[in-house]
Amino acid sequence: MALNKWINLNQRVVIVTGGSSGIGAHIVSDLLENNAQVIVADIQLPDAASHATGVDYRLCNIIDRTSFKKFVDDIYRQHQRINGLVNNARVNRARSLVDYYSETPQYQLSDDDFDFIMRVNQKRPFIFTQEVARVMIRQKQGAVVNIFSEAGIEGSKRRSCYSATKAAVHSFTLSWAKELGAFGIRVVGVAPGINEPTPMWDAKHREALAYTRGMKATNIDEDYSQKIPLGRQGKLDEITNLVTWLLFNKSSYITGTTINITGGGKSRG
Ligand SMILES: NC(=O)c1ccc[n+]([C@@H]2O[C@H](COP(=O)([O-])OP(=O)(O)OC[C@H]3O[C@@H](n4cnc5c(N)ncnc54)[C@H](O)[C@@H]3O)[C@@H](O)[C@H]2O)c1
Repeated sequence: MALNKWINLNQRVVIVTGGSSGIGAHIVSDLLENNAQVIVADIQLPDAASHATGVDYRLCNIIDRTSFKKFVDDIYRQHQRINGLVNNARVNRARSLVDYYSETPQYQLSDDDFDFIMRVNQKRPFIFTQEVARVMIRQKQGAVVNIFSEAGIEGSKRRSCYSATKAAVHSFTLSWAKELGAFGIRVVGVAPGINEPTPMWDAKHREALAYTRGMKATNIDEDYSQKIPLGRQGKLDEITNLVTWLLFNKSSYITGTTINITGGGKSRG
């Protein structure tokens, strides 16, 4: 990693939610390479063969405050510090507001979809950050990185609920930075756009994505040269490099803002 020699997280204790797969798993690897102590909180754990050596994987449903409070207490007891939190876990269901052609009722946004997406994507960063901030306030130091999505700023067709939760996290970022700055705690948002597929992209995911793009599941690739000024999708490593840097002291005057990492492009439309 290019940042390896420049950044040394020096055994800082960092929690990554949703770190078992996708972008979260990349963030975990990069933090490890840069000498952090990483704890993953995820509702599912990778199989043992895919465990990154040295990572403390813990099963944790982040919408359950009691289990999360215990999780934070345990980590603090063990390490006597929590220096970083990456709010990365998410869920998504591709849904339209109205099934106007009565063709795909299963894709019309239901109350259950709404509650499920809000609970994980919006309520969960609140619970996590509140509990971790209690520790960071005591130690007068810490950094919180909220991963959300460029779709939260631009909006996204057939992903209105997901996008709304991401916009909420953007707003949390701005407000929490104002509340926590006095205690030496930084809060920064990272908003990726269109990226290379993560390992979670199975047939079901591709079908849902094709639905949001109005395409066939067999052909969901787009012409990025028209849509993204840099002419390509983002690489997962490009996102993780930014996150690692934001957790490190060399970004010590950055807080209360969101950094788009989109190659200059807009969301999927
Ligand atoms: N993949 C992209 O192209 C893209 C684009 C823009 C933004 N993002 C954002 O980046 C972040 C990571 O995206 P990804 O594509 O890697 O996601 P993903 O769906 O591949 O992984 C999400 C992780 O969250 C975990 N999770 C879900 N519900 C949970 C719960 N209740 N408790 C604990 N863990 C839970 C899952 O088990 C999974 O490991 C998300 O916040 C997403 O909104 C991703």
